Amino acid sequence: MTKVFVYGMSVDGDNFTDRKKETARLKLNFENGINTILISPRRMGKTSVVKKAIGELEGNDDVMTVYMDIYDCRSEYDFYNKFAASVIQQTAGRIEQWVDNAREFLSRLSPKISFSTDPMSEYSLSLGITPATHSPEEILNLPEIIARKKGKSIVICIDEFQQIGEMTDSLSIQKRLRGVWQHQQNCAYCLSGSKKHLMMNLFQNKRMPFYMFGETMLLERIPTSDWTEYIQGRFESKGKRISEKLCALICDTTENYSSYVQQLAWNVFAETEDVATEQNFDDGKDALIAQYSAFCQQTIQGLSTYQLNFMRAILSGVHSGFGSKKIMEEYNLGSKSNVTRIQDVLIEKEIIEKRKDGLFFADPIFAIWFGRESHVGMRR
Ligand SMILES: Nc1ncnc2c1ncn2[C@@H]1O[C@H](COP(=O)(O)OP(=O)(O)OP(=O)(O)O)[C@@H](O)[C@H]1O
Ligand SMILES: [Mg+2]
Repeated sequence: MTKVFVYGMSVDGDNFTDRKKETARLKLNFENGINTILISPRRMGKTSVVKKAIGELEGNDDVMTVYMDIYDCRSEYDFYNKFAASVIQQTAGRIEQWVDNAREFLSRLSPKISFSTDPMSEYSLSLGITPATHSPEEILNLPEIIARKKGKSIVICIDEFQQIGEMTDSLSIQKRLRGVWQHQQNCAYCLSGSKKHLMMNLFQNKRMPFYMFGETMLLERIPTSDWTEYIQGRFESKGKRISEKLCALICDTTENYSSYVQQLAWNVFAETEDVATEQNFDDGKDALIAQYSAFCQQTIQGLSTYQLNFMRAILSGVHSGFGSKKIMEEYNLGSKSNVTRIQDVLIEKEIIEKRKDGLFFADPIFAIWFGRESHVGMRR
């Protein structure tokens, strides 16, 4: 089925737009064995761009690629099982080779093939790796051994890598990974993740094992001109039209946040008969906010009055100088040390983020929802 607009899953084909520079750079890094760290907020397009670059390497006989998402890995050995199974599955040509390869490259196993719960593949391989069967080093070296045997290089893309930072004893795990990976001659890694502060802490902190592991890429927003071309094209593919001005409005409202652009464009499309009107846009926007209201409610649940006051200050256009007497009094933020604490918690919760000109809401739709709710609250 060809979809007009897509959100909530990685995109490809006609639903993938722009990102030419990033795709080309990733591809170049993959071909040349450069480790890459890819960071962006949630739903900005990391997975899509990584898969796009992997797709562009098809036909290159010298480089093999492996993609895995470790979002559901809770422990170190969860990760090793996912790592080994992904490497074996994706470097073997056919399913028939999975078990043979598993036995050849990892002894002491009884591998099983079963129907997969993963929508990407029909079957999955379970290996049953435990600390009793294999050391971390054996598993982590697996791709290097396969690469040498096949006389190719292997690029291993690990998505949602911030998960490693959440594991118990994370620092020792990171030391083990880096310790093995840095000696591999035939493998390169692409580590992507959201939760910017977690990813930054893993890779930009001098005291951490993964410091300077590779080239850091911060995924930028797709520019309005590209979105406009895309949105107009998608409307036209179904015999409808939308003006440049309304496309720009969709981008402004969502701050060019990839997933929201697609979702709002879809909402407007659904409202539109032939040519999109401002009313269609307004209705589409209201629908978007309604679709997220449960999520927004949940986000503010349990926040203290001080924290909510801090957010109201941002809403009123204050982005810095929260510790000044005037602002603390006007918005009732408590003491100066309180202000720092509130700020840290709201950043940690990813409700607000630091930008060049101060503190802003991280999520544009949440910001609109919160604005409307506070307004209602004030009138009550
Ligand atoms: N290049 C693109 N062209 C068009 N839409 C895109 C593009 N990249 C991302 N999107 C939109 O953003 C959504 C999320 O994309 P994707 O899953 O790749 O992001 P992500 O950063 O990996 O998200 P998550 O943080 O949830 O893993 C897609 O469903 C799509 O709506
Ligand atoms: Mg993703």
